[in-house]
Amino acid sequence: FFLITSLSFCLFFSSLMKMLQTPQNISTHQSSHNHDRRPAYLKEEGHDALHKTSQLSNWQWERRRVSQNLTPRCEQNTMVENVSGFHSLSPMIQDFLYYRHCRSFPIILDLPDKCGGDDEPEDVFLLLVIKSSPKNYERREALRKTWAAERSYKGKVIRRIFITGTEGSGFEEEKLNKLVRWEHQHYNDILQWDFKDSFFNLTLKQILFLEWMDRRCPQARFLLNGDDDVFAHTDNMVEYLQSLKDNNGNKHLFTGHLMKNAMPVRNPENKYFVPLQVYEEEVFPTYCSGGGYLLSGYTALVIYKIAALVEIIPIDDVYMGMCLAVMKLKPDSHMGVQTLYWHIPSRQVDKYDPCYLKDILLLHKFMPSDLYFLWQEVRNPKLPCSAKT
Ligand SMILES: *[C@@H]1O[C@H](CO)[C@@H](O)[C@H](O)[C@H]1NC(C)=O
Ligand SMILES: *[C@@H]1O[C@H](CO)[C@@H](O)[C@H](O)[C@H]1NC(C)=O
Ligand SMILES: *[C@@H]1O[C@H](CO)[C@@H](O)[C@H](O)[C@H]1NC(C)=O
Repeated sequence: FFLITSLSFCLFFSSLMKMLQTPQNISTHQSSHNHDRRPAYLKEEGHDALHKTSQLSNWQWERRRVSQNLTPRCEQNTMVENVSGFHSLSPMIQDFLYYRHCRSFPIILDLPDKCGGDDEPEDVFLLLVIKSSPKNYERREALRKTWAAERSYKGKVIRRIFITGTEGSGFEEEKLNKLVRWEHQHYNDILQWDFKDSFFNLTLKQILFLEWMDRRCPQARFLLNGDDDVFAHTDNMVEYLQSLKDNNGNKHLFTGHLMKNAMPVRNPENKYFVPLQVYEEEVFPTYCSGGGYLLSGYTALVIYKIAALVEIIPIDDVYMGMCLAVMKLKPDSHMGVQTLYWHIPSRQVDKYDPCYLKDILLLHKFMPSDLYFLWQEVRNPKLPCSAKT
């Protein structure tokens, strides 16, 4: 175990040193005051590293090249048993803590040419990155035929990827693996890694995706990161992203349904329970609700780099906010992204009304069958809508 830890520290530091030597600059957005308190989730070595580099106005880094094949299977970390109160935690949280440090898992289904491959990289404008469990076949089918269809819109290339792990055990697991393999062959849109696709592993899924992106699709200009049960108006998204001044994906953008001053749920009965042993701070940094948010390729790669320094917590959207906070980058609010119901403008408007949906970017939660109808309707130029909502 110690061997693995020290090895990963070496890897980490050598990649950090490389970051400092190579051409692409990433601003840390750190002003002159360097003596910020280190949040508990930023690893100590991370604080030191950031502190040292914050003297420079820019970070410089290169694409990390760590051969995945060399990664041994990640071992359970039994030292976490010494954390106070460990034995009173639920088995799920104990399990999370045992494997919290594990970030490398073998890829089962890869998409090396999704963005054109090394030889002919494609100018992907909007990459749709959709979290989906193997069993959610119907949702993926509906998305492929509706808002997540791969296409060009106003000359901008839209590509789609479902990110997934493994689910179930024994025959069930085998069956689901065959299903996603079949989808992968047919649609070329599944990334699968060999880890348990559970609610508590969603952050891991995000990190694995970002690592993939860094390798296979670093040129993607913008990404939509979201769930497989949302309605995303991808035409509107392209128009919105095209309208941004001075940002073609090479500057910071992270926008969605903003969550400010959210506090960790400390009630063990709750689905979102986060014990002190997992997250010590009293509030979460500002983040965008994980149902769906838009970010630039630049910001995605910044998050990927900094994630190496930030302790994993199981709530993936909060985790993105933690990475942004460390980099002093702000998530933003976009009125068109509504991942909670109560923001619907008036009681007369129902969320299935195409006239309402015509102007939004993203809305939670829809049945697959509703998506077919709505996607046709919102794009119908003759849609009789009296006034804009
Ligand atoms: C990086 O920063 C240096 C110094 O600030 C500058 O000379 C160089 O042009 C920058 N490189 C890029 C790729 O922006
Ligand atoms: C846990 O703590 C005990 C007592 O402090 C110590 O003997 C043991 O080595 C620790 N276990 C690990 C895995 O560090
Ligand atoms: C996350 O995935 C790993 C690898 O499959 C597994 O060992 C671990 O139990 C999972 N964690 C949770 C909390 O589900």
